[in-house]
Amino acid sequence: MSVIMFLGPPGAGKGEQCARLEASGWQILSTGQLLRQAAALQDARGLQIRDYLNRGALVPDEWVVDLVRDRVSASPGVRWILDGFPRTEAQASLLGALHLLPQHVFVLVAPDDLIVARLGGRMIDLESGRVYHDLYHPPKHAGVDDESGRPLVRRDDDRPEVIRARLALYHAHTAPMLDFFERVQGAYPLGLTYLDATDRIEHVYACVSAVLAS
Ligand code: AP5
Repeated sequence: MSVIMFLGPPGAGKGEQCARLEASGWQILSTGQLLRQAAALQDARGLQIRDYLNRGALVPDEWVVDLVRDRVSASPGVRWILDGFPRTEAQASLLGALHLLPQHVFVLVAPDDLIVARLGGRMIDLESGRVYHDLYHPPKHAGVDDESGRPLVRRDDDRPEVIRARLALYHAHTAPMLDFFERVQGAYPLGLTYLDATDRIEHVYACVSAVLAS
């Protein structure tokens, strides 16, 4: 397989699973991470992007697709994991042109109440996107990234009211992506696996690994 994808609500654990797969040679294509990096530049476009992120709103499709196209063309021939892309039908319709049609989609399923509670404990390393949790995945040393030693931060969009806005957008625009993948399933070989995202991180990863090894 050369492209796989994780689909699931905010906080379902897409980032945690992608990070584990990275060790076996996959490259993560996270549009959330690309957008946070673009926002950090603080140029005119970056400031606009930061406003979308802070409101939990979807960034315009063209801006997201431009970032994806640049990222993919900078690293030809790698095995991609799509994290957070596509999020709309318009983005999904461009997967073929971007050479990013996934061979397998992992769908992480978690109830909204658990998401709001779980995201309250998240910390990240802004530069790499590595994810931690106060209870479920604490760093080796409190408050710092395991690899770089950089201080961990809370994401600006992990406030309860913004989480609820992100969840609403997920249900309205991104969950319907499942229909898209079920529709295209007949057109080319595409595997779909549903995973219980309330399970322990390592158990979810064992399920993912078993599918990829089969
Ligand atoms: P993005 O960064 O993609 O955020 P998201 O989809 O909301 O997903 P999250 O990163 O919040 O959650 P996750 O599923 O990766 O969970 P994680 O592994 O961190 O997007 C951010 C914003 O960018 C969007 O709101 C939008 O504005 C914009 N955007 C992005 N892509 C876009 C696009 N394509 N088009 C338009 N706009 C776009 O886990 C969460 C926490 O739980 C962590 O602390 C983790 O340690 C813990 N955890 C994970 N799994 C488990 C488990 N099984 N048990 C216990 N704890 C767990």
